[in-house]
Amino acid sequence: MIETIGITKTIGEKMILRGVNLRINQGESVAILGTNGAGKSTWLKIVAGLLKQSNGDVLLDGVPRKKDDYSQQQRLGYLGHQSFLYEAFSPVENLQFFAKLYQLKSPDKRIHQLIDDVGLSFFKHEPIRSFSRGMIQRLAIARAILHEPDVLLLDEPHTGLDQQAVSLFNRLLLDLKAEGVTIIMVTHDFPQINAICDRAVILRKGKIAEDECIRGRPVSWIHSLYEGEALSS
Ligand SMILES: Nc1ncnc2c1ncn2[C@@H]1O[C@H](COP(=O)(O)OP(=O)(O)OP(=O)(O)O)[C@@H](O)[C@H]1O
Ligand SMILES: [Mg+2]
Repeated sequence: MIETIGITKTIGEKMILRGVNLRINQGESVAILGTNGAGKSTWLKIVAGLLKQSNGDVLLDGVPRKKDDYSQQQRLGYLGHQSFLYEAFSPVENLQFFAKLYQLKSPDKRIHQLIDDVGLSFFKHEPIRSFSRGMIQRLAIARAILHEPDVLLLDEPHTGLDQQAVSLFNRLLLDLKAEGVTIIMVTHDFPQINAICDRAVILRKGKIAEDECIRGRPVSWIHSLYEGEALSS
């Protein structure tokens, strides 16, 4: 379970988050929505431990989130705008590097399987320097789930993916969801929210404006919620 209690974030004069209270249970799949600059990525980075909040608490199973807590880090998979990949390395070498970081035992089979899953087998020994944006994103997805985290923190993960990759990725996410992995996804992509998420949280000006179950709701309903026009029926 992930809980953020009264999270605020001020950078310089700017108050980016103004007290975000959110509780997400294990196995939930939650979309975080909001206009550009609403504070979504900031909140996600704070949960990921990449940014320190100004005030408030982040709890992981009731335990305060600590930046360098190895066992907490091991449970989380974060995919942000930066890929964290090394351009001189091939996909295999990149994943081997991260496997070492996570101290995975005998990771080779999983590495090759994941590269297969994201459709990069043909390029697995090529330095990623020459990869397209979508190819990098595919590898970044593999990197984020390599250590089998049980909470996924995804910031606009479908960005740059072609239709085939979107389908592959969504299938992967739905399989992980079926296994009980928590999925927290910041996105502007309504069809993907509809395909993956059961709950939508809308941030406006650094605060939660809506928090609703969207299971079985059409995309148009999620749109209305986003615009602040959803009916309660
Ligand atoms: N390092 C920083 N220094 C100054 N301001 C920042 C910094 N990081 C974020 N901000 C500001 O915080 C606000 C929220 O940013 P954030 O990236 O969280 O928004 P977002 O909801 O993810 O938006 P988007 O949909 O565009 O990705 C913005 O106004 C942004 O300019
Ligand atoms: Mg963002």
